[in-house]
Amino acid sequence: MPTWKSFAKPAAPALAAALLTSSLAGCGTGDPGRGAPPLDTHRDVTVYTWWSTGSENEGLITLVEVFRQQHPEIDFVDDGITGGGGGSAKEHLQSRLETQDPPDTFVAHAGAELDDYIADGYIQDVSALYDAYGWTDVFPAELIDLLATEDGKIYSVPSNIHRANVMWVNPAVLREHGLDPSGRYDTLDAFIADLAALREGGVEVPLALGTTWTQVHLLETVLLGGLGHEAYSGLWDGTTDWNGPEVTAVLEDFRTILGYSTPTRMDHDWDHAIGKVADGESAFNIMGDWAVSGFGNAGKTFGEDYLAVPSPGSHGVFDFLADSFTMSTGILDEQDAEAWLQTIGSKEAQIRFNKVKGAIPARTDIDENQFTAYQKTAIASFQKDTIVSSMAHGAAIPVGHLTDITSATTAFNKQVLDGGGDVAAFQKALAEAASKAGAATATAGP
Ligand code: BGC
Repeated sequence: MPTWKSFAKPAAPALAAALLTSSLAGCGTGDPGRGAPPLDTHRDVTVYTWWSTGSENEGLITLVEVFRQQHPEIDFVDDGITGGGGGSAKEHLQSRLETQDPPDTFVAHAGAELDDYIADGYIQDVSALYDAYGWTDVFPAELIDLLATEDGKIYSVPSNIHRANVMWVNPAVLREHGLDPSGRYDTLDAFIADLAALREGGVEVPLALGTTWTQVHLLETVLLGGLGHEAYSGLWDGTTDWNGPEVTAVLEDFRTILGYSTPTRMDHDWDHAIGKVADGESAFNIMGDWAVSGFGNAGKTFGEDYLAVPSPGSHGVFDFLADSFTMSTGILDEQDAEAWLQTIGSKEAQIRFNKVKGAIPARTDIDENQFTAYQKTAIASFQKDTIVSSMAHGAAIPVGHLTDITSATTAFNKQVLDGGGDVAAFQKALAEAASKAGAATATAGP
């Protein structure tokens, strides 16, 4: 079977099955001791996500189907809330964790987003499951590095790998206005020139956009395209100066680009923006590849009706994020949460889930031929391109830092909607958010 990472090694299903039986038997809440009543006789797992619409919801339903086949004795309880990007979900989750009311397992992004949960003691080390199921050999080494803390512990199980720097393009709109229909832009300037040409030609909203988190997503890709991958990554490790003139120039471009986007953006989530590209009202949307199913559901064909290209200026880069499931501390159902994680890491779940979610499986021992034409492009890019971590989706920075970037972006976007946009104040707020986060990392961290 072809693998798409050279370091992939075959899994050991027989061993994994044996370990599953032994690792699950008698642990968790099942048997408190001879003669005592069981503490938790009802087998269920409460699972917290924000996957309530479109491909996300289909993906969750598929995971539940696989879970029911693999663990028919355990009930799945959907314990999540709605809201694309997970911003509201994370806020609500935080209050549950603080009041000792955790779901058994919740989805979080692999990488820095986990730091605060680990430091606060809200999630458990699940490294033993990696040994039990041979996951260290089948997940990409880069992903394991991102998941592991400095002392080598791993606190979550990835279900997928998403690409954030994707621009969804309606080539017919470009063609109609005499523009290159490939949607390829090597610079932000070239992109802005076409946005202007489209507006001039009567396309009122050349770039479809949604609410705040989708604007932060756009900001991420504009920073990446404008600064280049090294300086972009330097924003998160402190080697790029947030106050520098390069950042000022990119933020000015961001303001210009916002001016070509949906005026009612605050009222919409990501799927609305994708609909606008699918129906030809807009030429572009920049969104992670969970968006691909929006086109499929609208009956559109990849490569003809719509294209997916790296966001302007980011050719040769894969802007990475991964959803991963944790196990909360202080729960009654450890055994059942463990079973959910086992399903998440299983080959069957990774194949079936990602077929609908639009991502690529985190496991590398899976035949890529079963995925769509779009997914094959993502697999190829992940293999050969430079990988950077997504800011808007938790790979690059912890939740607190993202919250501050989001507040700054909210204020800036409001000014742009009101006809202004104070770049200097925005840049200052972003620089302050970075220093605050740097100080927090220096004093805390897992
Ligand atoms: C998650 C995706 C999800 C998207 C939109 C991202 O942060 O990683 O799984 O589809 O948000 O809600």
